[in-house]
Amino acid sequence: MKINVRQETESDYTTTADVIIAAYKDVGYSDKKEQFMVERLRKSTAFIPELSLIAEDDHGNSMGHILLTKIRIQNQDQSYEGLALAPVSIMPEYQHQGIGSALIMKSHSIAKGLGYNYIVVLGHEKYYPKFGYELTSKYNISLPIKVAEVNCMVVSLIENGLSGVSGTVVYPKEFFA
Ligand SMILES: CC(C)(COP(=O)(O)OP(=O)(O)OC[C@H]1O[C@@H](n2cnc3c(N)ncnc32)[C@H](O)[C@@H]1OP(=O)(O)O)[C@@H](O)C(=O)NCCC(=O)NCCS
Repeated sequence: MKINVRQETESDYTTTADVIIAAYKDVGYSDKKEQFMVERLRKSTAFIPELSLIAEDDHGNSMGHILLTKIRIQNQDQSYEGLALAPVSIMPEYQHQGIGSALIMKSHSIAKGLGYNYIVVLGHEKYYPKFGYELTSKYNISLPIKVAEVNCMVVSLIENGLSGVSGTVVYPKEFFA
C-alpha cells in the first residue's frame, strides 16, 4: 500500500477529528478528548502548520494524522525551544502497516528542516525507541505531569542536539483541557 504524507489543511479538520476519535476509541488510558486538544493546539501560538500531517492512501482517504507543536525545556538559567509530538493517530483498520512510522519519520525530517533540535513524546516505551527516542531521565529532563518514567522520551534531531539541555518541559496551556 502506498502511503502519501502531506500537510493538513483546514478542509481536512473534520476528517482528522474522525481519524483521531477512531484511533483512540479502544485505547484504555485515553480520555477520548484528543481531538479537542488538537483543535485547541491548532489555534494556539504553539501551532506549526507544516507539522500537522496526514497520511492518505492512493484514493485520498485519510488513514492517520500526527501533530507536533512548540514547547520549551526550562531550567533556572535557560530555556530551550523544541517540539512535542502529540497525538499520533492511525485508524484501527490501518494500524501495524507502517503508517505511524511514516508519519513520525516525515515529521522528524520536516522539524529538522525547520531548525528544531529535539522532540519530546509521552508514549509507548516499546514504540518510540525505534525512531531514536531515549528516556528524558537520561538528560535530566522532566515532564510537568505525573507519568511513568518509561513513557517520557526525547529524540535529538541533530548531533548533540540535547547536549547541555536539562529542565522541565513547559507545554502550551492548550495541551490541557
Ligand atoms: C501507536 C500507533 C500510532 C502506531 O502506528 P502504526 O501505524 O500502527 O504503527 P507502525 O505500523 O508504523 O509500526 C508498527 C510497529 O510498531 C509496533 N506497535 C504498533 N502499535 C504499538 C503500540 N500501541 N505499542 C507498542 N508497539 C506498537 C508494532 O508492533 C510494530 O513493531 P515492529 O515494526 O517491530 O513489528 C497506532 O497504532 C495508533 O494510532 N494507536 C492508537 C492511538 C495511540 O495509541 N497513539 C499513540 C499514543 S503514544
